Amino acid sequence: MPAPLDQLGSAPVTTPVDVVILAAGKGKRMYSAVPKVLHRLGGRPLVQHVVNAARALGARSICVVYGHGGAQVRDSLAAYDLHFALQEPQLGTGHAVLQALPHVGEDGRVLVLYGDVPLIRVTTLQRLTAGDPEAVHLVTATMDEPGGYGRIVRNGDRQVQRIVEENDASPAERGITEVNTGIILAPTAKLAGWLGELRSENTQGEYYLTDVVALAIRDGVPVNTVQPEATWETLGVNSKADLAVLERIYQRYQADDLLGRGVTLLDPARIDLRGILECGADVTIDVNCVFEGTVRLGNDVVIGANCVLRDVSVGDGTLIAPFSHLEAATIGEGCQIGPFARMRPGTRIAGHVHIGNFVEIKNSVIQNGSKANHLAYIGDTDVGERVNIGAGTIVCNYDGANKHKTIIEDNVFIGSDTQLVAPVRIGEGATIGAGTTVTKDVPAGVLALSRAKQTAIEGWKRPRKKAKGEDG
Ligand code: UD1
Ligand code: CA
Repeated sequence: MPAPLDQLGSAPVTTPVDVVILAAGKGKRMYSAVPKVLHRLGGRPLVQHVVNAARALGARSICVVYGHGGAQVRDSLAAYDLHFALQEPQLGTGHAVLQALPHVGEDGRVLVLYGDVPLIRVTTLQRLTAGDPEAVHLVTATMDEPGGYGRIVRNGDRQVQRIVEENDASPAERGITEVNTGIILAPTAKLAGWLGELRSENTQGEYYLTDVVALAIRDGVPVNTVQPEATWETLGVNSKADLAVLERIYQRYQADDLLGRGVTLLDPARIDLRGILECGADVTIDVNCVFEGTVRLGNDVVIGANCVLRDVSVGDGTLIAPFSHLEAATIGEGCQIGPFARMRPGTRIAGHVHIGNFVEIKNSVIQNGSKANHLAYIGDTDVGERVNIGAGTIVCNYDGANKHKTIIEDNVFIGSDTQLVAPVRIGEGATIGAGTTVTKDVPAGVLALSRAKQTAIEGWKRPRKKAKGEDG
């Protein structure tokens, strides 16, 4: 099919974009054995945020340029379909992009992003890629204190001419407040030629990616600029202090997103989301809660203060009271959980269940309407419907070598301070007297007891403290 008239002579707007992510820097100022780009922001490695942005942009390919901690960087990104290019030694940003070119098709455009600039938003990148595919596009920012950044040098017509690095800049150039964020988009074939022309005769002895701007101008290729909507999008991480600043920005951004979707946050400055949080309607989250992995909350769920939820789903109308810690658990509707409840992996709670304070549950199923309101351990257990588990009940699921299963059928009443020595089955409707140690299966409907008979010793004297000087 012939191209429409208005597109003749220009490349189609769909010129593919190949993203190159620079991640070879050591990150000396992190003082860490972990490569800089693997430090976590919102629970995910910095570089993973950048990879996600590139994917959301619809990049044709993504190449990560790595150096320090190469194996670790590759391993952490193993779930993605990426190219990797080793840059060794590291001779500058221009040299870094050059290492990626063998992985990049010549027909497209290269977009350079940075593994340590994690908050760049897709909307900003889209404004960049929507521009003239034959031009070079830069993301620039205006800063009151531009120290340390490359400066954008423009001519009298405000046309970009070149980028000068701080160390190579004249005093007048250092006064320029428009800085290079480092993000650049360029037609690949031309970029390859310019990178081949780079020289390292500068104060740092490096091959500067930024020098391609002057080469583009020399070749008559226009250089355009885009500024990010939010100034924080192009902030980089060089230290733990930077990381802490970005973490707060990121958390606030996510909190605002939750508010925008109708979630009530009692204080949007005091929530930490390290993963994905999906909420139904009328969800309320009190302060200092941490959500990790993938958490799904149904309608009308209330999460009390200081809860930690990791890979959890919670049904409609359930209350998770303060200080509860839930991991890899599924909770049904209309439940009351906590305060101070702990659910470990493999916990499945049906509807209208009450789990109270200091109750620990692991790898167990609890059916509708059952209760364990105080001080209990329930492990490797199937609990039926309408079961009452008294205070201080312990399932002894571990014999020192192996774990064993306990089954508690519907309508069982377990008295306080009971031990259930697994494997054991409590039949439907059975009652276990307080203080019983259950070592054998209990038939349905009976009362099971294992206590010694109560006796009363008349005239018994309590031991008393010896007086000073009294002999033993
Ligand atoms: C670079 C820009 C500067 C810009 C600034 C924004 C150049 C020459 N300068 O300066 O104009 O204002 O970023 O932060 O590009 N990297 C490699 N391999 C290398 C060198 C760097 O992968 O050989 C990576 C680093 O890991 C880092 C990024 O590139 O993520 C930037 O390198 P850095 O040395 O911090 O650049 P700046 O000197 O700050
Ligand atoms: Ca440098």
